Amino acid sequence: MERIASGVPGLDEILGGGVPKNHIVLVSGTCGTGKTILCGQFIYEGLNNGENGVYLSLEEQPESIKDSFSRLGMNFDKYEKEGKLTFIKYDPYHVEGVFDILENTITGIGAKRVVIDSISALGMHIKDKGELRRMIFNLSLVLRKMDTTTVMTSEIIYGQSGISRYGVEEFVADSVIVLYYEKSELMFSRTIQVWKVRGSNHSKKLHTYKITNKGIVVYPTK
Ligand SMILES: Nc1ncnc2c1ncn2[C@@H]1O[C@H](COP(=O)(O)OP(=O)(O)O)[C@@H](O)[C@H]1O
Ligand SMILES: [Mg+2]
Repeated sequence: MERIASGVPGLDEILGGGVPKNHIVLVSGTCGTGKTILCGQFIYEGLNNGENGVYLSLEEQPESIKDSFSRLGMNFDKYEKEGKLTFIKYDPYHVEGVFDILENTITGIGAKRVVIDSISALGMHIKDKGELRRMIFNLSLVLRKMDTTTVMTSEIIYGQSGISRYGVEEFVADSVIVLYYEKSELMFSRTIQVWKVRGSNHSKKLHTYKITNKGIVVYPTK
């Protein structure tokens, strides 16, 4: 199995040696667990190593994401100007059309890494659960046609059980990573778990991670 670097120190180790190439990786967690930051690090790692990227943001505007990424030392403007990175702006009234745009953009710039942040945001515009599931599935079909590795996020509601918002995201994913922010005694602590990696061994432990001014750092031995 070919692997690529996640761009998150320590994460490759607990995944069993990196992100499996061509996988669809689901990253889920409640609000503020660092899902978007992880996406940024994943795309940035690729760009720094000659792999073009597409970032489909279904929540925040590209300008505001780039702003917060630059505060973490990731400067995307250069890559965007060079045509190596495309942020796809999201039109809530044409959700269905966004997948065609995604496919065309990936092909157009020969992207190797794709981010979809977040899948859960689709639910704000598609109320019908069946239709939503079908859309998530169709999205996975689009991605499977291409030679890309994808990180997609799902926002869990705090206190709700399950590892994704709609309970279907994990079925279209090859690998699943869950980020936890939970009360332990008098404080909240951050832990990360690799839930599954199709076709590979991986750490089964809960590991500590931190969000620093350079992004996420995972501690494989803690
Ligand atoms: N420079 C920083 N130092 C420490 N923590 C930070 C820093 N920047 C952001 N964070 C943390 O990251 C969180 C936001 O991460 P984000 O990726 O947007 O979460 P999510 O996408 O899961 O909602 C903030 O709530 C904050 O706790
Ligand atoms: Mg986010």
